[in-house]
Amino acid sequence: MTLATVWSRAQAGVDAPPVRVEVHLSKGLPSLSIVGLPEAAVRESKDRVRSALLNAGYQFPPGRIVVNLAPADLPKEGGRFDLPIALGVLAAQGLVPPAATAEHEFVGELSLAGDLRAIRGVLPAALAAQRAGRALIVPAGNAAEAALARGLAAHGAEHLLEVCAHLCGRDELATVRATDAGAEPVYPDLADVRGQHGARRALEVAAAGGHSLLMVGPPGTGKSMLAQRLPGVLPPLADDEALEAAAVRSVSSLGFDPHGFRTRAFRQPHHTASAVALVGGGNPPRPGEASLAHHGVLFLDELPEFSRHVLEVLREPLETGRIVVSRAARAAEFPALFQLVAAMNPCPCGHAGDPRASCRCTLEQVQRYHARLSGPLLDRIDLRVEVPRLPKALARVDSAPGESSAVVAARVAAARQRMLARQGHPNARLDQSGLRAHCRLDAAAQALLDTAIERLALSARAAHRILKVARSIADLADRETVEAAALAEAVGYRGK
Ligand SMILES: Nc1ncnc2c1ncn2[C@@H]1O[C@H](COP(=O)(O)OP(=O)(O)OP(=O)(O)O)[C@@H](O)[C@H]1O
Ligand SMILES: [Mg+2]
Ligand SMILES: [Zn+2]
Repeated sequence: MTLATVWSRAQAGVDAPPVRVEVHLSKGLPSLSIVGLPEAAVRESKDRVRSALLNAGYQFPPGRIVVNLAPADLPKEGGRFDLPIALGVLAAQGLVPPAATAEHEFVGELSLAGDLRAIRGVLPAALAAQRAGRALIVPAGNAAEAALARGLAAHGAEHLLEVCAHLCGRDELATVRATDAGAEPVYPDLADVRGQHGARRALEVAAAGGHSLLMVGPPGTGKSMLAQRLPGVLPPLADDEALEAAAVRSVSSLGFDPHGFRTRAFRQPHHTASAVALVGGGNPPRPGEASLAHHGVLFLDELPEFSRHVLEVLREPLETGRIVVSRAARAAEFPALFQLVAAMNPCPCGHAGDPRASCRCTLEQVQRYHARLSGPLLDRIDLRVEVPRLPKALARVDSAPGESSAVVAARVAAARQRMLARQGHPNARLDQSGLRAHCRLDAAAQALLDTAIERLALSARAAHRILKVARSIADLADRETVEAAALAEAVGYRGK
């Protein structure tokens, strides 16, 4: 045999499209050329593959070797193709059997000595190989990640020779089993938060319906504490949600994290973060904070300090739950279905509205502070709540603890279950027709809404937001229709 084909996977966003590695041996002056990879990556891969084969004890075939990675227009990063290229060279010489090779897919970087080095983005490749019905061989360092794809025959190997022995049927690699990827997540507990009943209630409503939340209050009143406790009151991650979130991490610079597999993400980008850091970018494109927060919480502390431009880029993911990053000819798509929580002080010094602390900010300073907020982003915040300074008795460390996360999470889970049974998604994602179908008001609530629309000059969008929040409040109380009390509470969370 002088022609061999080996299967591998590229990485594009959180997808792993198939790549055919074709190797052709022919007569001619000894040479190895790789086509279908960017120049720099080719050079590096060529050197590693050549050294790895020689150091593993193989002769380099005399003559011309052409390696083609197809299709040519796929994004291909270098390292992951080392293993399939090396195996292709061996298969073309008849040193590994083509039938066994064809049943597998391979990704992995080689060291000069032939050791396999872990790479990024193995989980998407594993999920895709499973769908394609082929086994997957990865570096041992990636084995736990590959094993997450249910029903996939995944094998981890330390060295190129182990892979060859496996393919030749001499010494089969063990199939890796999903290990302890289901470790119970640990979140900070709401019991730590004293007082702040209004804010705790708003957090519960936000958790139930998946609504975005803005907390406004002076420094040191518990805004950050409350935000950090939201993941712990949300329903546990479903298997497919956990896999999607893990796939994003896997292709990011953070890398796959087996321990955090079942933990809802809590991402808190600093206000100096760039737009790229927030929504992703670069070449090759990497996910940003909004995607790392997929199925979790994105917390923007000190909201007015973020640049307007940076906040505006969040509009797309807030609306669609995904982000398309385009760089030059390549576009990559990342999921970004996150719950937004933001916090801010009422004024630059932080004490406006507090009778016992003197705020020295001028009216103009306060206005300028608020004007820094992006209107379009504020428009997408469902609940706004005050987090005032604690009374002295509650500020003491020995004051009674608040209700625990477990108790709140049980109510949230029951309400969320009602939403899923009724419309298949949380209330925050109700559209116009969903609102009409599922958000019936009783007469008193309707009258209240009409009055609010008139007195507060509410836009249609603001009214819809109030309806969605009211629906969540009614779901927490297990009510079929939205009554006046629920609607009044929702109006109270209305932003400007
Ligand atoms: N309601 C509270 N219950 C218990 N501890 C609190 C509360 N509020 C504040 N603290 C204590 O104060 C510390 C700071 O709280 P936190 O960081 O949540 O304040 P913040 O409102 O986010 O302030 P800033 O506006 O400065 O960001 C907490 O670590 C905690 O020790
Ligand atoms: Mg804070
Ligand atoms: Zn002030």
